[in-house]
Amino acid sequence: MADHVLLPQRGPDEAPFEESLRPRRLSEYIGQEKVVANLAVFLQAARARGEALDHVLLFGPPGLGKTTLAHIIAAEMGAPIQVTSGPVLERPGDLAAILTNLEPGGVLFVDEIHRLGATVAEVLYPALEDFALDLVIGQGPAARTMRLALPRFTLVGATTRAGLLPPPLRDRFGIVHRLDFYDPPSLERIVDRSAGILGVAIDPDATAELARRARGTPRIANRLLRRVRDFAHVRGEERITVDAARWGLERLEVDSYGLDDLDRRLLITVIEHYGGGPVGLKALAATLGEDQGTLEDIYEPFLLQHGFLQRTPRGRVATALARRHLGFGDCRQGSLFGVDEG
Ligand code: ADE
Repeated sequence: MADHVLLPQRGPDEAPFEESLRPRRLSEYIGQEKVVANLAVFLQAARARGEALDHVLLFGPPGLGKTTLAHIIAAEMGAPIQVTSGPVLERPGDLAAILTNLEPGGVLFVDEIHRLGATVAEVLYPALEDFALDLVIGQGPAARTMRLALPRFTLVGATTRAGLLPPPLRDRFGIVHRLDFYDPPSLERIVDRSAGILGVAIDPDATAELARRARGTPRIANRLLRRVRDFAHVRGEERITVDAARWGLERLEVDSYGLDDLDRRLLITVIEHYGGGPVGLKALAATLGEDQGTLEDIYEPFLLQHGFLQRTPRGRVATALARRHLGFGDCRQGSLFGVDEG
């Protein structure tokens, strides 16, 4: 794939760019209307009562705005935010140190919360439920626990894999929302807003072209905008025309549906190696030389949602749309002898 331009994860040097485009308040947030409407109510109610907001779990594919919403929640509560992530919190003490430093009403954002270790999660349970930290003092028969009161705070957890959260953790979130892929009109509004912030002129049909090819993901839409702006400048053009956009997108190897090289290889493998499927995820990952989790978290959601791939009890099946898009025709049906592993 050209430069991983379609990967929904944040690139290593992208944070400042994303930061500049991130909406700061709920009123600036485009798309995810149901989530935004519900959050607005809960935020208003919590503010009116002068209480911390209930704990919030946001889940869904990467690049759809989980981190942005966490920052917005803090801003709307007028509260400070402390940002960390599941893999960073290695020991119970790491989490205890953060919890004891929270301000009353503050927001703790834990990204990739499904990667929190079991012993660290144990510290979190009483903190979420009773706003208390249970400390074990001493060892052996003389050990005793001491309870330390914590300020009331709001945990915002984000995960691409809600199914991997231990049920006791999942049950402690009062507000749970799934973020979905954005429709093209929302992505067009996001591209327009971002172009305005970046001070770059873009024609409406170029905006539409970027929105259509962005895999339903604002992070990708903004990244494509940045790259296509470079292509327009190199062509000596002041504004991004649809021609410049298409020319740039072709060079970035983003196809008309926004599929990238691995998407296409995945679908072609299902069609050519496995007779269209069904094929288990494990076998598919091994054939592609890719990590199973990456396929499941990053690639599959978009292909499933947009009808290129189907998940059946016996494995993954390539659809007629996938065959047509990749030039295979519709005639072959999936093999009846697939083995389910996924
Ligand atoms: N930039 C990235 N995501 C956005 C969103 N949902 N609304 C407005 N601007 C954005």
